[in-house]
Amino acid sequence: MRPTQAPFPATRLRRPRATAALRDLVQENRLSVKDLIWPVFVVEGEGQRQPIDSLPGVERLSIDYLVDAAAEAAALGIPVICVFPYTDPALKTQNCREAWNPDNLSNRAVRAIKASVPEIAVMTDIALDPYNINGHDGIVEDGMILNDPTVDALVKMALAQAEAGADILGPSDMMDGRIGAMRAALEENGHSNVNILSYSAKYASCFYGPFRDAVGASGALKGDKKTYQMNPANTDEALRLVQRDLSEGADMVMVKPGMPYLDVCARVKQAFGAPTFAYQVSGEYAMIQAAAENGWIDGDAAMLESLLAFKRAGCDGILTYFAPRVARLLQN
Ligand code: PBG
Repeated sequence: MRPTQAPFPATRLRRPRATAALRDLVQENRLSVKDLIWPVFVVEGEGQRQPIDSLPGVERLSIDYLVDAAAEAAALGIPVICVFPYTDPALKTQNCREAWNPDNLSNRAVRAIKASVPEIAVMTDIALDPYNINGHDGIVEDGMILNDPTVDALVKMALAQAEAGADILGPSDMMDGRIGAMRAALEENGHSNVNILSYSAKYASCFYGPFRDAVGASGALKGDKKTYQMNPANTDEALRLVQRDLSEGADMVMVKPGMPYLDVCARVKQAFGAPTFAYQVSGEYAMIQAAAENGWIDGDAAMLESLLAFKRAGCDGILTYFAPRVARLLQN
C-alpha cells in the first residue's frame, strides 16, 4: 500500500462512507446519459413495432416509429443512436450486394433520422451478415470467409452509409485491413469528418445470440465466426488489434462483449488512451432482464451497476439496449 496512509485508527476507511453526501463527494466514477449509445433495430413497413422474444423490452421498429424513438432519445440527452436493420430474407445473396444499396433499409433509416432529428448522432454497422445468405460477416466461397473481397464490399458499404448521413461508422466485421481501406475511401470521397468507431476487439461470443434473432441472422448462419472474431482466451491480441486499427485511422475503438471483458477494456484504455467503448451485448441484456423478470435480482439496480462498471474499467461510453431506461432513471 501507499506509505502516506496513517495506520488505524487515524485512518478509518469507513469515515467517508458514512453518509450519502460524503459518498457522493468521494465517488470516483459516474455514469451519465452522455455516455450512452442506443442500439436499435429497424424493419420495413409503417406502423410496425415487433417484439423480439429473446430480447424482452426491445422491439424492431419501422422507420416512422424509429424517427419518433430517435427524437425521444435526443430529448433524453442520449447523444448517439446505432441502427441495425432486419433484412428481408429475399434480399440476402451470396455477394451481399444489398449491403451497399444506397436505398437499403438501414440507409433510408439513417436519412430519415438525420432529416427529423439532426442533433442526434447516427452510428451504423458495417458487416455483411444481414445481407449474406450464409449469415457470415464476410463473403463466403467454398466454406472460406474471404478477407480482401470482403474489404472491397465493406468500403462500398461505408461510402453508402456516409452518403446517407451517418456520423459514426461501426465496422463490426473483424476483417484485416478494413479500417485503412475505409478511411482512405472516406477521405477521397469528401467524407473527411465521418468518424470510425472500430469494433477492434470483438470476440467470438455466445452472448450475441439474441441479437442474431433480432436481425434475422440466426437461421442463415452456418458454423461459427471463429476465423475472424477473437478467441475469448486472449488479451494481448486485443491490444494488437486496437493498435492496428488506431494506426489505420480509427477515431474510437470498442471491446465487445462488455461485462465478461472488463479486463480488456481496462488494458485497452490504459495502453492507448483513445476513446474506448464497450458493447453491453444482447446476451448480457437478456441475462439481466430474465433474472429481473423472475424476481431474482433488482433489474434497475443491476442495470445501473453493470453500466457503472464500464466507467470504472475506463470506458468513455457504452452501447446498451438499456439506454432510454437508464436515461430516464438518471433524470430523476
Ligand atoms: C454483426 C454484429 C453482431 C453484433 C453487432 N454487430 C453479431 C455478430 O457478430 O454475430 C452483436 C450485438 C449484440 O449481441 O447485441 N456483425
